[in-house]
This record gives sequence, C-alpha cells and structure tokens, in this order.
Amino acid sequence: MRIITLDSQTDFDGWRKAARALALNGVKPSDVSWRVADDAPELFEPIAPPLEPPQGTFNVPAKFVELAEVAILHRNPERFALLYRLLWRLRTHHDLLELATDPDVAEITAMATAVRRDEHKMHVLVRFREIGREQKSHFVAWFEPEHHIVELAAPFFARRFADMPWSILTPDLCAHWDGLVVSFTPGVSRSEAPGADRLEETWWRYYASIFNPARLKVQTMQKETSRNHWWNLPEASSIKPLIESAGHSANAKIANAATEPQKRPELPKASYKASEMPRKHADDIETLREEAADCRACHLYKNATQTVFGEGRQTARIMLVGEQPGDKEDLAGKPFVGPAGQMLDRALEEAGIDRRTVYVTNAVKHFKFVPRGKIRLHQKPNTPEIKACRQWYERELAAIKPDLVVAMGATAAQSVFGKITPINKNRGRAIDLADGTRALVTVHPSYLLRLPDADAKAREYRRFVQDLKIAADVLRKSAHAA
Ligand code: URA
Repeated sequence: MRIITLDSQTDFDGWRKAARALALNGVKPSDVSWRVADDAPELFEPIAPPLEPPQGTFNVPAKFVELAEVAILHRNPERFALLYRLLWRLRTHHDLLELATDPDVAEITAMATAVRRDEHKMHVLVRFREIGREQKSHFVAWFEPEHHIVELAAPFFARRFADMPWSILTPDLCAHWDGLVVSFTPGVSRSEAPGADRLEETWWRYYASIFNPARLKVQTMQKETSRNHWWNLPEASSIKPLIESAGHSANAKIANAATEPQKRPELPKASYKASEMPRKHADDIETLREEAADCRACHLYKNATQTVFGEGRQTARIMLVGEQPGDKEDLAGKPFVGPAGQMLDRALEEAGIDRRTVYVTNAVKHFKFVPRGKIRLHQKPNTPEIKACRQWYERELAAIKPDLVVAMGATAAQSVFGKITPINKNRGRAIDLADGTRALVTVHPSYLLRLPDADAKAREYRRFVQDLKIAADVLRKSAHAA
C-alpha cells in the first residue's frame, strides 16, 4: 500500500504531482491511501518501496483538471482517492467525463457542485462587522463553510471590498485583505469573532428599508441557510419584529393575503401560431433559479454578490423585464427592491396591476458596476452581456408562458425582441413576437428617477402608468377572449 501525504486539505498541486507519479508507475487506485499532513497517522502503516521518478507522460482532458481543482475542496475524505480513480480510468477512456451516469463521474460532479454552491453561499452570507474606529477600522466576519472554500472565495471579497481592510475568520482557515494582497492564517474558534456593533446596525437599517413581507420566504431561507449561517445574519433577528410591525401598516394586506396560486385562464388561441412557437421544454422557476445561481456565461458574476433571478408566480400572465439588478437588488438577491422598484410598485398600483400577480425579472441577472470609493456605480450592460444572459430570459419565458411581456427600457427591449428596438417608436401598443408572445415596450422606471425637471418627471410618469394600463387592458381582453 502506498501512503501519500498531502500538505493540506486543499493541496491540489501535491495531489496532482503524486497522482501523476503513481499513474506513470502503474500503481492501481486500490493500492493507494491518501492522507493530509495534519491528520493523525495510523499506528502500523505498511511500508512501500519509493516510487520511481516518473518517466513518460499522458494527457487528461482540461475539463477533468477544472473539475478536480474544485472537487478537491469538498470535505469528503474520499475525494483524493476518487479523483485518482478517475484519473486512472481517464488514461484509457478519454471520454469518461461525458458519461454522466458513471458513478465516479456523477460523484465528482456532485462534489464540485456542492463546493460551488458553498462558495456562492459564502459570497452572499458573509457580513462584516467593524472593529476599531475611523483610520484604524478593520472589518471582520465569521463564517463556517461546509467545504474547504476559503481560498476559492476570498478573491471575490478582495474585488468587492477592495478599499476596506477585512478578515474572514473560519474554523479551517482565515483570509485577510490589507488593500493589496490576500493572505491566509490558520483557522480560529468562534469565540474570536467580534460581536454586534455599528455595522450590524447599519445592515439592520438597510434590511428594514427593503423589507417586504410579501416576498419573504422564511422557511426557504432557513432551508437554504444552515442553522449556523442563519443565526450569523444580523437580519435574522429582525424578521419577526418586522413581520409583526407590518401587520400595522399597508403591508399587512400583502402579508396576510392568501397565497393560493390563481387558476390561470386558457391562453388566447388567436395570438399563438403553433408552428411559430418552438418553445423549449419548460423548467420550473425554482429549478431555473438554482441553475442560474452558478451562471458564469459572462464575466459579470465575478464582481456581483449573486445572481438576481426573476421573482413571481409561475402562473403570472404578465412578465415585466428590466435591465439588470442595481446595488440594492444585488445585495438583497431580488429584482426591483430599490428606488426603481418603489417607482415601479407605485405605477403598477396606479395602473391597477397587483405586483403579486406579475413575474418580474431583468434582461441581465448580475449587477454591472464600477467601484467609486464606497459607492458602486451602475454601468449599462453591453450586447455580449445581454446575449450571454438571454438564455435565462428565454427559459423564464418558456416556464411562465405569460400573455404579455413588458420590456422596460432599451436593454430589456433588446433582449425581448432579440435586436435593438427603439422605445419611442414602439411604445404604447402590444406587438406580436415570432414565438406568439405579445410584447409591450415602455421606459425604465430609473429613467423617470433621473429626470431633473419636475414637470417632465410628472409627465413621463403619467405616460409610464398609461403604458402599464395598456398592459392591464391587453390582459383583460385576452382573458375575455379565452
Ligand atoms: N433596475 C432594473 O432594471 N432592475 C432592477 O431589478 C432594479 C433596477
């Protein structure tokens, strides 16, 4: 039996070097035992002769290396052996990774997915607390990852919080950023993490400002967020009092309203031509949301906090499409919860459309911005980014099958129509799309927010409400026709 001892739990280079030497020496996977330096050694380890320096070479698909680099961060102690078994088999079966049903392939793929999901959770759930004051302040967070992901996740925080010194403490490893480089030190215990302070209060106020009980799914949040992560979030303790106080406000109606899905009338036959409707197989929205959480189709995922997927009932008959999430949406993980969302809510209400009955999404699902000091300045997505993200819009469309899509602003219109589509020339009427869906074009609510002149603002707002009334009308007519 060969005992291979790696330097650390994440020692991919050590694993790769050893695996290559083992394979070139013809050492079978069943004859290798993998350890990590700080694991307790077994008392009586059988001695094997030293390996010959590797002679010759062999290739494995680049996809295997990518998969292995991620899967090795899984906490399962069997991962090193599994990876070596796959490497051994890949030498004679180059296409092995294409066999999704192969048990080894399925297991390694599931491990890599779990690691990516954990990385995503860390990006979204880490909350920094400020320690020290003014010049000397330092931001510290406590996090308990499921897998060995600290090194994988740290560059995201360095990009995202480039101008503040921070440390993320975990039981495995701690990451630190001094404004120039990320460094790592051994893990610490929870008692070394800081308690509540100013930052927590700031976060609480922000959370309270975007809080909408109608969109809160406490059980889903708790299911998605392990107990440790859940209690780590400053907002977790605020949710109960916020729900209670919502009972005294206008939100009470929303919070207490029945959540039974509405039965959807049949789609109007006249507006669909079957031959022109190459609708894809329709997934359900929750499955799509999960898939999109790992989307890397363009570079925008790198700096954004998370994918902001669409939100609303699968039975919605109107689908509203915006441009991309803004700063607040990026943090909250929900579309249209910031100032543009408030403007939209107001206009929908005036147009007689209940936001709870529509599906709201964006053409681009990640926040694109440039950092300016502590502020993140919105940047308009470009055509390659819009195209890269269109697959999600198409799949949302196939899942929801709305009667009407409302494209708000130029980016949304480009995605909905599949080409640049001027707003003013096309607004104010429902247009039939090639796939049978009907679309209405209007301005984006942030355009109204940006108008400096109060009269122009009021006039444009009225036109926006008017467009939404047309949407409500189209819906009424198609419901009658059905
Ligand atoms: N602007 C958008 O286009 N979408 C949002 O979700 C928020 C602001």
